[in-house]
Amino acid sequence: MSLTLVQAWTQAKKTLEAAGLAGPVIDARLLVEAAAEATRTDIVTDPYRALTPEQEATLAEYLARRVRREPVSQILGRKGFWKIMLNVNRDVLTPRSDTEVIVDEVLKATTEHQRFSILDLGVGSGAILLAILAERPAAKGLGVDVSEEALAVARDNAAHLGLANRVALLRGDWGEGLAGDSYDVVVSNPPYIAAEVIETLEPEVRDWGAEAGAGRRRRRPGRLPAPGARDPPPAEARGPLRRGDRLRPEGRRGRPVPRGRRLQRADHQGPGRPAPGCRRDEKPLGNGRLSRYIR
Ligand SMILES: C[S@@+](CC[C@H](N)C(=O)[O-])C[C@H]1O[C@@H](n2cnc3c(N)ncnc32)[C@H](O)[C@@H]1O
Repeated sequence: MSLTLVQAWTQAKKTLEAAGLAGPVIDARLLVEAAAEATRTDIVTDPYRALTPEQEATLAEYLARRVRREPVSQILGRKGFWKIMLNVNRDVLTPRSDTEVIVDEVLKATTEHQRFSILDLGVGSGAILLAILAERPAAKGLGVDVSEEALAVARDNAAHLGLANRVALLRGDWGEGLAGDSYDVVVSNPPYIAAEVIETLEPEVRDWGAEAGAGRRRRRPGRLPAPGARDPPPAEARGPLRRGDRLRPEGRRGRPVPRGRRLQRADHQGPGRPAPGCRRDEKPLGNGRLSRYIR
């Protein structure tokens, strides 16, 4: 006999509990919702709806992966952050709720229709930058990351959120190559887990490498190349973002356009430089730093 939504949820909770996982109630609900293509409301208002055999098989597969300590966000391929839903995969840090403090501070420091430019160093999935742009329709942003794979995720997210026309995403080594440019707001949530600590972490973090935020190449459980705040970027990741490349107007002759450059240029010639008399104000924020120009 088929499982109903409520039975599926109850059984899923028991399975996750028996595996000793923290937060089995929410994880079970999220997995049931995804497998049964149901909403949270459906589970409450239509609890006796039966799952199809395919949905039951999908749920069994999801639960098996979760029991092997794969994070729910990786199983589902998405994660809610601030007010947006982001696609995620192993190439990006799954956005964390404590990072939302950076979004919150930028929103508090700006007004809804303010025109400003924002630079996100280590943009990953695009979480911080896209959450801000989604709430500030006149703002434009540049996101830089050393990982081409992460940038592909950020581009995808920018497109599905309808923000691609206000965001540029470039591969680069932090601010290298941006020396001549300035932004009204600079945010960053850089890798913050030291390599030597990784092995002591929960499997969800230890084995699903991008969770550690190191942004290195694809990792597999048990084969983690030492990520961490002190790792230098891989040699092949250095250098594509060179001074002069980024803001070169369309059509100007010069070196070939580096990969990942397509979305920028004029987008970022807006309000960039601080007005005379402004000074830079920087403060720690969650795992990152908020930096802005103030009078
Ligand atoms: C902790 S994650 C933060 C991702 C995203 N901003 C967030 O908060 O969810 C750090 C990001 O920094 C990137 N990164 C690491 N080294 C870098 C470097 N040298 N230059 C630019 N980005 C780098 C990683 O690829 C990763 O995406």
